[in-house]
Amino acid sequence: MTTYIGTPTSRVDGHAKVTGAARYAAEFTAPDLAYGSVVGATIAKGRIISIESSAALAVDGVIVVLTHENRPPMAKTDQAYKDDVAPDGSPFRPLYDDRIMFNGQPIALVVAETSEAAQFAASLIQVKYKEEAHVTDIYHLRDAAIPVKTPSNPMPPKIRGNPDQALAAAAVRHVAEYFVPNEHHNPVELYASTAVFEKGGKLTVYDKTQGVQNVQKYLCGVFGMKPDDVRVMSPFMGGGFGSGLRPQFQVVLAVLGARAVKRSVRVVLTRAQMYALGYRSAMIQRIALGANTGGTLDAITHDAVTVTSQYEEFHRQETGWSGLLYKSPNAKYAHRLAHLDLATSSSMRGPGAATALFALESAMDELAVKLNLDPIELRLRCYSDRDQNEDKPFRSKALRECYRQGAETFGWSKRKPEPRSMRDGGDLVGWGMATGVWQAPQAEIAVRIVLTADGHAEVASATSDIGTGTYTIMAQVAADTLGLPLDNITIALGDSTLPHSPVEGGSWIATSVANGIVTAAEAIRDELLRFAKQMPSSPLANCSPDEVGFAAGKLVSKRDGSRAVSLADAMRQGKVDRITQEKTTLPSHNHSHANNTHVAHFVEVKVDEQLGVIRVTRAVSAVAAGRILNTKTAGSQILGGVVWGIGMALHEETLIDHTFGRIMNANIADYHVPVHADIHDIKVIFVDEPDGSNPLGLKGVGEIGIIGVAAAVANAVYHATGKRVRELPITLDKLLGSLDVST
Ligand code: MOS
Repeated sequence: MTTYIGTPTSRVDGHAKVTGAARYAAEFTAPDLAYGSVVGATIAKGRIISIESSAALAVDGVIVVLTHENRPPMAKTDQAYKDDVAPDGSPFRPLYDDRIMFNGQPIALVVAETSEAAQFAASLIQVKYKEEAHVTDIYHLRDAAIPVKTPSNPMPPKIRGNPDQALAAAAVRHVAEYFVPNEHHNPVELYASTAVFEKGGKLTVYDKTQGVQNVQKYLCGVFGMKPDDVRVMSPFMGGGFGSGLRPQFQVVLAVLGARAVKRSVRVVLTRAQMYALGYRSAMIQRIALGANTGGTLDAITHDAVTVTSQYEEFHRQETGWSGLLYKSPNAKYAHRLAHLDLATSSSMRGPGAATALFALESAMDELAVKLNLDPIELRLRCYSDRDQNEDKPFRSKALRECYRQGAETFGWSKRKPEPRSMRDGGDLVGWGMATGVWQAPQAEIAVRIVLTADGHAEVASATSDIGTGTYTIMAQVAADTLGLPLDNITIALGDSTLPHSPVEGGSWIATSVANGIVTAAEAIRDELLRFAKQMPSSPLANCSPDEVGFAAGKLVSKRDGSRAVSLADAMRQGKVDRITQEKTTLPSHNHSHANNTHVAHFVEVKVDEQLGVIRVTRAVSAVAAGRILNTKTAGSQILGGVVWGIGMALHEETLIDHTFGRIMNANIADYHVPVHADIHDIKVIFVDEPDGSNPLGLKGVGEIGIIGVAAAVANAVYHATGKRVRELPITLDKLLGSLDVST
């Protein structure tokens, strides 16, 4: 029975958020709280010769200045610094030694009685360096970039058929290079950690993280603490987007500070300092498509170079999406890494796919132009019901329906194919579309349910709610599964002492935790049924566990709804007032099918013909992502993804001054993200997609919203102006020459 699943249920934590009751990492406090301020390196590579702290120490209220020379002990092996989602390589160690590996690297922490004293004192620290030559420009290393070789690569480079030969023989070819710059996450909440120091040195750390247990394990490794000595909490997050998948350096500094001064310490990074942490890697991509005149593909190749640091090999499956999405007998993809003197790049919403699909879907649009085909028609002719990389069918793939419903809602049939053929007064109007694809994974997770005789349940797992609505979907699933009103469900998450959960990311938590709740609820049912059967002339005497379900505070026979036992009566029989069950749920071991989510984006742009100003005036996104748990929160995920895709297309770019190897626009005045004035009409459609990969038929919707949006915008800009821009962001200077200012 579903009362809540599939409905637009409002956030169960919404009241706490709007009233300020929800507390974030930098809002937790302690009576003895001290404040840490971070000093960042001003060179990109080299050694620290000396750090002069005397002026800082003389500031009223300053307690200590920690550097690599006087910090408390930290682990000496790479292994100790490896978090659950660390890439291959040697993880960064904050304040470890005199080596500088990226500009902005933390090199000192000032701890003071007030935040103001700490910040002022930090400004007085004098550092002498021995500088070494650095490289921060991906284009400098493109030829020296090295192939991805890590065994952890989820979809290793593959070749099928003979793509080079097929490309050479193809009737129609499109070959081009596309570029996406480095981009930063910029969540609203600053990166922050409050380490509360308790008697005996135990710590409770309130941290802005997408994985409390990941951070807890990491801190134990770095500081040699026992699991019981450190508890990590992250009940709420002001946006994660991948920035909090790995432990951030301020959590190490807060704990270092607390251990040094034996009291509680809070460290909040400034917006500028946040840019010294991971980011979406720039990507130079070369796509080659070979087609026959009928509009099917003979060959597709995708080569990419992405950015990582000198010390780690971060990458995602960037190019394999091209081998997967469209039917092509011959395909090849390869991925190389440029090791630059920057911090390690990281996951950022739709990592890999958001960048890869910009190139692929721009290239498909260019091919459609060459073939004189409607862009949707080309995609339908190249439609694949199989994941060709893995050579297996999709469990479900309602992408055709996304194209159909999206096009209909958008009014695509009224599009005139010629560029520059549609106008609105002084504006050139362009309509573009693109496809997006993402994975639909399920991860191992543990869930504990405590059901009380009065019909209330607490559902607990150490997962996070990074703003996506995890509290809400957990409550919906628990309410339906246990047959209780939503208000009777309490959710506990974001606490490392709760049952085991992976980091929240990759769009895998909704699927994992929701099915985890179903498993734990089944265990509760089994125990209740055992009690119910012991009742004299029990109405459920002959029922097997499969034959009963929960409804309206009762265990009910599925065959005969009149046969029921209330939770209270069953528990009374068992002489308990609550039942607790904790169960671990594993993903299905059936790998016969591929699991992916898909989207078709349609956008309208208007380009001012005199000034080149681009506005995205309309967008329609049709999503196929299995069963949707909550059309409101899921809809918001897609809406946010489309907004972000517009930012990616038109605004976002992390600019580095390569002379100093320093980010120039490390603030949200100079790093442009979309604001309300940039965003107009966005419609989200969820198409029906029954899927049997897991009991609830879920796939997850976190990432899919952004993937493909930038290409849809670029394709619309081409349609409006006749100018193809292959380098993001599409700023108006890149349109110069395509505009007819004489009219
Ligand atoms: Mo998301 S990049 O998986 O947090």
